[in-house]
Amino acid sequence: METQPARPLAANRPKNPLIGEIAVPGDKSISHRALMFGALAVGQTRITGLLEGEDVLRTAAAMRALGAEITRDGADWLVSGRGIGGLTPPEDVLDMGNSGTAARLLTGILATHDFSSVMTGDASLRKRPMGRVIEPLKASGAVFIAREGNRLPLTIQGARDALPITYRLPVASAQVKSAILLAGLNARGITEVEEPEPTRDHSENMLTHFGAQVQVTQAGRGRLIRLTGQPELRAADVAVPGDPSSAAFPLVAGLLVPGSKLVISGVGLNPLRTGLFDTLREMGAALEIRNFRIQGGESVGDIHVEHTALVAVDVPAARAPSMIDEYPVLAVACACARGVSRFRGLSELRVKESDRLASTAAMLRAGAVRVEIEGDDLIVHGSAQPAGGGLVETHMDHRLAMSALVFGQATRAPMRIDDARFIDTSFPGFVTLMRRLGADILAP
Ligand code: S3P
Repeated sequence: METQPARPLAANRPKNPLIGEIAVPGDKSISHRALMFGALAVGQTRITGLLEGEDVLRTAAAMRALGAEITRDGADWLVSGRGIGGLTPPEDVLDMGNSGTAARLLTGILATHDFSSVMTGDASLRKRPMGRVIEPLKASGAVFIAREGNRLPLTIQGARDALPITYRLPVASAQVKSAILLAGLNARGITEVEEPEPTRDHSENMLTHFGAQVQVTQAGRGRLIRLTGQPELRAADVAVPGDPSSAAFPLVAGLLVPGSKLVISGVGLNPLRTGLFDTLREMGAALEIRNFRIQGGESVGDIHVEHTALVAVDVPAARAPSMIDEYPVLAVACACARGVSRFRGLSELRVKESDRLASTAAMLRAGAVRVEIEGDDLIVHGSAQPAGGGLVETHMDHRLAMSALVFGQATRAPMRIDDARFIDTSFPGFVTLMRRLGADILAP
């Protein structure tokens, strides 16, 4: 993606409301995991609704390079797995592109496969910390040689007789939790991970779905997860729900543009992912979930949303793990809400695809909104209609790009972004879909 020319775009306030019923692409977290678990299972896994975004395609390519057979069958994807411990050495460097999830989860898998491999990523991913997975994974017996500062590129020599890990996460991170569990699949005995706050549990759910023994118990405010090593993972079909983190963009646009009325159908509603919806409701949003159902072990529903004049909100730090990717677009909603909003405890935002605390603040300032960063808190001074009129630097960050384009639907003057290329990592077709609803997004 880095080799293509940058794609600037401009977003203007639309003349008409946003109206329609849409579905958003498949959940990114679940899609990565379906490919990885499918590759580690015995038999053929059929995946319906896989996100065909760049990040997930990188995972598919990596699992193929490690010996799994992955093909498309119409709209579905088929994965023929190698069984636990059965992956084979890759012939070339594994390039995980822009995807932190792909890089961190795969590092866990490779830590307990007895061969060496080299992993890299794009300029954004090469800045992101890998020490958070390297340090705990060393206890399995794996050896890592990383670039200065524990960054990619990373050489991994997997352990021969891997030891199970016991670890208490210092930060709430589903990626670190999942990396340790994935390493534990090929270690003898019980792998134990304790998390200080509950984080998305797609790995635990999917491991159970594939036949592994996973025990989850409450531990203070968080959870203790125990995985029995070396299970026989059996192929199991996966139906991927729409990504709630992608639904967030049309949803907030619908709230902001007067007269709008949208339905976003088939959205994943795992309770550890729905912090944004709770927060928007606290802001007064006319947002309703209908047709709630359980699909392949995950909650799913249709989101109905109508334009609402929003009010400011105070978001507690404890809610961060359940809406960690939604802060940029929530900040846009708060910029257009009456009053001063505060989001607490956002240190993890500094190590996302960009430093999202700084880049979200800069996005709003480009639209003439008053913003402060106090420690790890973000403070947004909202008004019914911010002036806009600025250029947003997106720093290879898909969510910042989409947030800025949503922001431009509500500002008096257009908002421009320097580069829309990275939107394809998580939400291919975003601009076309938004235009279909009536959004005004054009090449400048
Ligand atoms: C993800 C976990 C989150 C999130 C990322 C996807 C996952 O990262 O930001 O987009 O699929 O496990 P952290 O676990 O590092 O917070």
